Amino acid sequence: MEGVVRIIEVGPRDGLQNEKTSVPTDVKSAFALSLADAGLREIELTSFVSPKWVPQLADAAETSAAAMLRQDVAWSALVPNAKGLERAVQCGYQRIALFTAASEAFVNKNINMSVEESLDLFAEIVLLFRHQVPNGFVRGYVSTAFECPYAGRVDPTEVVRVCSRLLEAGVDEVSLGDTIGVASPREVRALAQELRETVPDDKVAWHFHDTRGTAVANALCALDLGYTSFDASAAGLGGCPFAPGAGGNLATDDLVYALEREGVATGVDPVKLAQASLPVLQILGRAPTAKAQLAVLSACS
Ligand code: HMG
Ligand code: MG
Repeated sequence: MEGVVRIIEVGPRDGLQNEKTSVPTDVKSAFALSLADAGLREIELTSFVSPKWVPQLADAAETSAAAMLRQDVAWSALVPNAKGLERAVQCGYQRIALFTAASEAFVNKNINMSVEESLDLFAEIVLLFRHQVPNGFVRGYVSTAFECPYAGRVDPTEVVRVCSRLLEAGVDEVSLGDTIGVASPREVRALAQELRETVPDDKVAWHFHDTRGTAVANALCALDLGYTSFDASAAGLGGCPFAPGAGGNLATDDLVYALEREGVATGVDPVKLAQASLPVLQILGRAPTAKAQLAVLSACS
């Protein structure tokens, strides 16, 4: 079953955007390259957002220059506006990720726009990007697909509406974010049922945060439903500076373990993966906590 599932590694971007301790640029690039060595082939490397809003990723261009010398990886970066697009294209990105949400309050806090403004802007950005990078790939994140830290539960019909608008604007896929990590498999099934009325399965990726320990269960539920694209972050690093209460992402280590045990080959070496995040964790002054990572490391010692 190798090649059936896509893992989109977001550790260097989602994993580091919310950390108080600053991680040196060369450690970020080395982290991304170690993830590539572990077998990950789609890696979201950084964000071309305002350095005033997210100073942690102000070195996006420098991080990219070192890592993107490796060409057997589909590197991508977050882009919030035309200025971000210009910076990303200058760095040679063939893949960008735009980001909005299904909650007005969250979009406002995160990118200082309304949902409608973000959708209009992103339609323009997709056109600009296609013009500059004709064979490029565009992802559209839909955050707060289950619940918003400011407005509470989110109506699945709004998630479907935002996904449809992004797809109409020409994005290649949508990634549905459980931004604060609250969802359970029952909710994944309910959202999938609504989505399937209008959004093809192969245009959907799932982006689970693991704040409450439900991320692996949610990913396996989506897998059972027939979805095959999953975002994850090495060591479960992650969070969003504008989403209070957001815990780390679904750990890539845990996802890879669960998929392999389900008989789905991932092409990822669990030992190399477990080791890839250690230099970053050391700088952050944190011990590993992802369960599969801990198991691999203890088996190695
Ligand atoms: P703003 O303050 O409304 O915009 O921010 P602005 O146009 O007034 O710009 C403010 C300053 O930033 C200006 O500088 C701009 O030039 C500069 P000044 O004139 O004051 O010196 N600026 C930029 N600089 C570099 N690159 C840029 C850029 N844009 C403006 N691209 C803006 C609006 C969208 C820029 C801001 O709100 C922003 O950058 N937000 C980013 C928020 C963010 O990164 N959030 C985390 C990622 S989303 C996430 O984690 C969720 C996800 O993981 C999925 C999930 O879990 O649900 C994807
Ligand atoms: Mg996220």
